[in-house]
Amino acid sequence: MKNLIVANWKMNPGTVKDAENLFDSLKKEIKEVKEVEAVVCPPFVYLSGLKSKADNVKIGGQNCFWEEKGAYTGEVSFLMLKDLGCSYVIVGHSERRKYFSETNETVNKKIKAVLKTGLNPIFCIGETQEERSAGKTEAILKQQIISGLGGIKDNEVSNGLAIAYEPVWAIGTGNPCDTAEAKKVKDFILGLISEVYGEAVSKKIRILYGGSVNGKNARSYIKEAELQGLLVGGASLDAEEFAEIVRSTI
Ligand code: PGA
Repeated sequence: MKNLIVANWKMNPGTVKDAENLFDSLKKEIKEVKEVEAVVCPPFVYLSGLKSKADNVKIGGQNCFWEEKGAYTGEVSFLMLKDLGCSYVIVGHSERRKYFSETNETVNKKIKAVLKTGLNPIFCIGETQEERSAGKTEAILKQQIISGLGGIKDNEVSNGLAIAYEPVWAIGTGNPCDTAEAKKVKDFILGLISEVYGEAVSKKIRILYGGSVNGKNARSYIKEAELQGLLVGGASLDAEEFAEIVRSTI
């Protein structure tokens, strides 16, 4: 399995032109890189413009709704994302949980819907600073994983799921998680997946790290913490820096 490096553009950039230019620059920067799976998750409105450009760099959604279609004002379904050429969908990002009231239950519905369509969910989990200080990190992650994957069978889990450990306190703060701590959390997640689904399934899941990743620290998460990918926010808005991140993980 290749390492999965995902750009989460969040609500950026501000225009179609800037989005297309950023995507083109990024593609150009990493056009020789074959060892890594690179994915850009732009705002929904830019997906159709990027569809025809996606090849060595894939595209994905930052969110989706779990119903196929209908009276759900403002929502975008996983089927629409598939039609737009997406192969990945970020589900349960902490900003969705914080600002849009996503819960472990709605995250579970979305993961089920995404897997059913043959898209690959990037399932985000992570504790807040308060939970970490109270020594609750593992309990919180366990709850997020068990609820988020509730009712999902082994063969579905092993078919494209990636789990992104994104400690909330590390996102956008310039205060990344220590490599040793990230490794400990990765081992905990894999142990839990093995317990629930068996070791064979745990070997097919990629565990990503996200939270203040940049060109300087990216390599250590892959080479020292042995994670299989990264979810990158702020640093992914600079094509050169994102390319540096991608290349440093080879
Ligand atoms: P950041 O964001 O790299 O800007 O910390 C990561 C994320 O939210 O996915």
